[in-house]
Amino acid sequence: MAATLSAWRIDRYGPPEVLRPETAPLPTPGPREILIRIRASAVTRADGMMRAGRPRFARLFLGLGRPRQNRSGTGLSGEVIAVGAEVTRFAPGDAVFGEAGMRFGANASHICLEDGSVLMPKPDWLSHQDAAVLCDGPLTSWHFLRELGGLHAGQRVLILGGAGSLGSAAVQIARAAGAEVTATAGPRNQGLLLELGADHAIDYTSRSLETGAARYDVIFDTLGVSSFRAMKDQLAEGGRYLCPVLSLPLLAASLWSRVVGGKRALFAAAGLLPPEVLRGYLGQVLGLLEEGALVPLLDRVYPLSDLVEAHRHMETGHKRGNVVVV
Ligand SMILES: NC(=O)c1ccc[n+]([C@@H]2O[C@H](COP(=O)([O-])OP(=O)(O)OC[C@H]3O[C@@H](n4cnc5c(N)ncnc54)[C@H](OP(=O)(O)O)[C@@H]3O)[C@@H](O)[C@H]2O)c1
Repeated sequence: MAATLSAWRIDRYGPPEVLRPETAPLPTPGPREILIRIRASAVTRADGMMRAGRPRFARLFLGLGRPRQNRSGTGLSGEVIAVGAEVTRFAPGDAVFGEAGMRFGANASHICLEDGSVLMPKPDWLSHQDAAVLCDGPLTSWHFLRELGGLHAGQRVLILGGAGSLGSAAVQIARAAGAEVTATAGPRNQGLLLELGADHAIDYTSRSLETGAARYDVIFDTLGVSSFRAMKDQLAEGGRYLCPVLSLPLLAASLWSRVVGGKRALFAAAGLLPPEVLRGYLGQVLGLLEEGALVPLLDRVYPLSDLVEAHRHMETGHKRGNVVVV
């Protein structure tokens, strides 16, 4: 067992360059904790928001002047190397994947997590890199489309941002649900949308989405590039507009549409759901992977030592699927 932990610190909010490498003694798991040797971890838009402390209102939860939890990264995959005396779910040698959640610290060589956290046994057929990203796009899009949107066979869905982490998973999840899928991306990703399983690909640089004859049962704006108000006419009667990027207009639309009924706007923070609920969703997501209906889209893989570069790429707003450090 390595004697030290390699991790990345965030002592102040800011651009990728605020990330600082650090080494520390390897932690000893508490009675209900698991020590994991991390093989791969995700670098997500949410990680970028935590690092930057944006939107600013998020600092109420993250820490007002500086991050309260000062390590980076949430999604991870690796092997259990030690467990506390009261741990029953896992044993040394088990391959596991999941997320550190608000504890952060997944962009590291090791991490200690609670037995009851969002951790699942990793099947042998699943690579560490694929497993590390499941808690971002796949889990979030599952929650939005299947739980919030109630998407089912025969419905029409529009996915804005179909080439991103959430979008690339959403296209595949919607297709697997039997929906008719329309997705948007820029010119270079039109072919990718079709390969992922979209029935129709739209280039957002050349066509407005707010007009047109199509009516969708579900619109999933994975990026927050539209608004409920602008897209309402594109929704079928009783349709749902889903968006994972919180803003004041979205909050207002979600509260108002709840009161008046009919077409609804919905937001959720998937990562704040109880761990047992998220483990249930991950089980569903794993089922789709096993059937071959969902394949995580990996864009770039960096060594852990290049985390700053990985953050820079993630923040371009044009990554294709997911970014991983190993
Ligand atoms: N609420 C929650 O529970 C939750 C959970 C996870 C993530 N999130 C949030 O979800 C958001 C999306 O994250 P992500 O990782 O999926 O994003 P991402 O991977 O960074 O999105 C990049 C993709 O967006 C496409 N894109 C850029 N501008 C576009 C536009 N105007 N229309 C359509 N596509 C466009 C790009 O395609 P082109 O290169 O072709 O333009 C690129 O492939 C983030 O804000 C994240 O914080 C929320």
